[in-house]
Amino acid sequence: MALVVFNQKGGVGKSTITCNLAAISASQGLRTLVIDLDSQGNSSAYLLGHAPNPEQPSVVGFFEQTLGYSFRPPAPTEFVVRTPFERLDLMASGPQLDELQGKLESRHKIYKLREALQQLAPVYDRIYIDTPPALNFYTRSALMGASGCLIPFDCDDFSRQALYTLLANVEEIRADHNPQLAIRGIVVNQFQARAKLPQQLVQELVDEGLPVLQPYLPQSVKVRESHQLALPMIHLDPRHKLTQALVQLHDRLARTDAL
Ligand SMILES: Nc1ncnc2c1ncn2[C@@H]1O[C@H](COP(=O)(O)OP(=O)(O)OP(=O)(O)O)[C@@H](O)[C@H]1O
Ligand SMILES: [Mg+2]
Repeated sequence: MALVVFNQKGGVGKSTITCNLAAISASQGLRTLVIDLDSQGNSSAYLLGHAPNPEQPSVVGFFEQTLGYSFRPPAPTEFVVRTPFERLDLMASGPQLDELQGKLESRHKIYKLREALQQLAPVYDRIYIDTPPALNFYTRSALMGASGCLIPFDCDDFSRQALYTLLANVEEIRADHNPQLAIRGIVVNQFQARAKLPQQLVQELVDEGLPVLQPYLPQSVKVRESHQLALPMIHLDPRHKLTQALVQLHDRLARTDAL
């Protein structure tokens, strides 16, 4: 039901993949929610077309209210805003997430997102969670509550080193806290079919038996345009080869298991 997109390495395509898969789900008629757990707010800006308004409901508000006692706590849906795209909602992030983190940690609020995801499950057909480039409180909260994890990989040798640690970290959280968490696979992003090195690198991962998903997402200058115009690829250019690859990846994920 809830899919978390995680890699502690920065700039591998987490936000791009989260928002684009979500936009495809929504365009196929599914009630879809993106939860942006990164204080940078890239997914929020991508889907809203502007930085989230601190006065508006957000994931910051959600976590803040877990610190106080309320006889009747607000439903998680109260922290959701609509995006310009039909059926696509957002729990936006905010820079205040950083300063909140210590308090949430010391007060043991690590399961609050999991509880919220359970409450949101009947409201949304698909929930995608974008995470910061760190295994911090928010990323752990997401991994403890999600049913699946997608790992973007940017065909870089340093990313490969980080991949083994990452898989071990996710496995530990699965074993200790969330047996239903499935590693849905590694998404190869920014793939250059004509370059030899990335091909070799990805082939080695496949040979090692790592769960590399097909198809690979090609590198394209359209991504920048998509971010700038705040239009996910399915709306910007549905026939583009990157869009087609994203749709195939989306449909494959939907076929192999409920998200
Ligand atoms: N398939 C692609 N082709 C070309 N550029 C891409 C592709 N995917 C992502 N990018 C670019 O790479 C950069 C990083 O992407 P993105 O912000 O999605 O990564 P991230 O993992 O969310 O980063 P962070 O760790 O900072 O949150 C962006 O400038 C984006 O435009
Ligand atoms: Mg990001």
